[in-house]
Amino acid sequence: MNILVLGSGGREHTFAWKIAQSNRCKSLFVAPGNSGTEAIATNLNIGVTDFEAIKSAVLEHQIDIVIVGPEDPLVQGIHDFFLQDDAIKNVAVIGPQQAAAELEGSKEFAKEFMMRHNIPTAAYESFTKENVEDGYAFLETLQPPYVLKADGLAAGKGVLILNDLDEAKAELKSMLVDAKFGDASTKVVIEEFLDGIELSCFVLTDGKDYKVLPTAKDYKRIGEGDTGLNTGGMGAVSPVPFATKEFLDKIENQVVKPTVDGLKKDNLPYVGFIFIGLIKVGDDPKVIEYNVRMGDPETEVVLPRLKTDLVEVFEAMANQTLSEVEIVIDDRAATTVMLVSGGYPEAYEKGKEITGVDNITDSIVFHAGAISKEGKTVTSGGRVMAITSYGNTYNEAIKKSYQSIEKLHFNKMYYRKDIGFDL
Ligand code: AMP
Ligand code: GLY
Repeated sequence: MNILVLGSGGREHTFAWKIAQSNRCKSLFVAPGNSGTEAIATNLNIGVTDFEAIKSAVLEHQIDIVIVGPEDPLVQGIHDFFLQDDAIKNVAVIGPQQAAAELEGSKEFAKEFMMRHNIPTAAYESFTKENVEDGYAFLETLQPPYVLKADGLAAGKGVLILNDLDEAKAELKSMLVDAKFGDASTKVVIEEFLDGIELSCFVLTDGKDYKVLPTAKDYKRIGEGDTGLNTGGMGAVSPVPFATKEFLDKIENQVVKPTVDGLKKDNLPYVGFIFIGLIKVGDDPKVIEYNVRMGDPETEVVLPRLKTDLVEVFEAMANQTLSEVEIVIDDRAATTVMLVSGGYPEAYEKGKEITGVDNITDSIVFHAGAISKEGKTVTSGGRVMAITSYGNTYNEAIKKSYQSIEKLHFNKMYYRKDIGFDL
């Protein structure tokens, strides 16, 4: 198999790391990749939504499988683009077609899907500029905090949680009338606030059957104690200690099965990962969001726990024989801590030299916003590297990650020192 991974983050380095361990993989390419993928694969200088350039690369390198890391190409229809082109229609694409990618591309679509298939989620209503007054009236019927969600993709920034009614009304106006998130907030979903602890569940599906991967919990806020601005994710742990067997069964029966069945009933072809964001309210799971891809940094703790050959899994997904594959999970816990550029998620500087990576022996270093330049590894993004460790408990694993980080350095490096603090 010749394999192409699309993306350039820690998630994609983790995919490449796992794929490179398979003897079923002949040549591995990553577009555009980073300094981590460069060491184990061939990086191609192509953007993830440049479909024509991706097609040329697929033909040139005789790619058999394309793994789509981020959501943008999926929501823009990369899978459909392949299917509609005779030259590449037989290349397997891991990631859903555009219609199903709307589960992530539109919050309203996702809510309607959940309602239709009786999947537990927060009560909601959606509004546009035309009925903003109804939105204010709906807010008045709710108890604080108020949850406002831009319908479309807003790079993880489209959800606002506000304690004050007047502020919520003002934000609703700013989203709908003043296009705070551009086209993404042409519609806004207002929903009931769910009080509980969050976790994520990851599912593989070939459109017929599914397999459940380990759960993970990520830490989205920049500051310790879950304070400050939202980020892409500052660290993660897997498994989630409060996800008991009983609770996992509930997730499977109340959420996973109806989701996969719902996709079939609605005629939404889906070969790929389903990332289900959940809140445990009392003893029950409620869905807060679907993503049509793996999470980052959740991938950095989920894939290291997968013992099964990932290429075998992808082949089975493409051939619709996933039911025949046995998913074997490492019993150990895995944790990851994200190193970020000072200032992130707001303005930060790039091009800082990263030193000490080679001194790390007890952890796996997944590169994210890092590239090679003139023989050095330098920062190129906000989230720079994810330091993953195994342990018999998540505490042991997290300790290892923090010990490894001591050996690493770049100017203005920042990380949270409390990953796992709430477990
Ligand atoms: P989302 O992009 O939908 O995952 O939302 C981002 C974050 O907002 C989630 O990770 C939750 O922490 C929070 N959130 C979203 N919806 C709700 C809700 N209905 N109740 C409480 N918190 C929520
Ligand atoms: N870490 C959250 C995400 O990938 O969406």
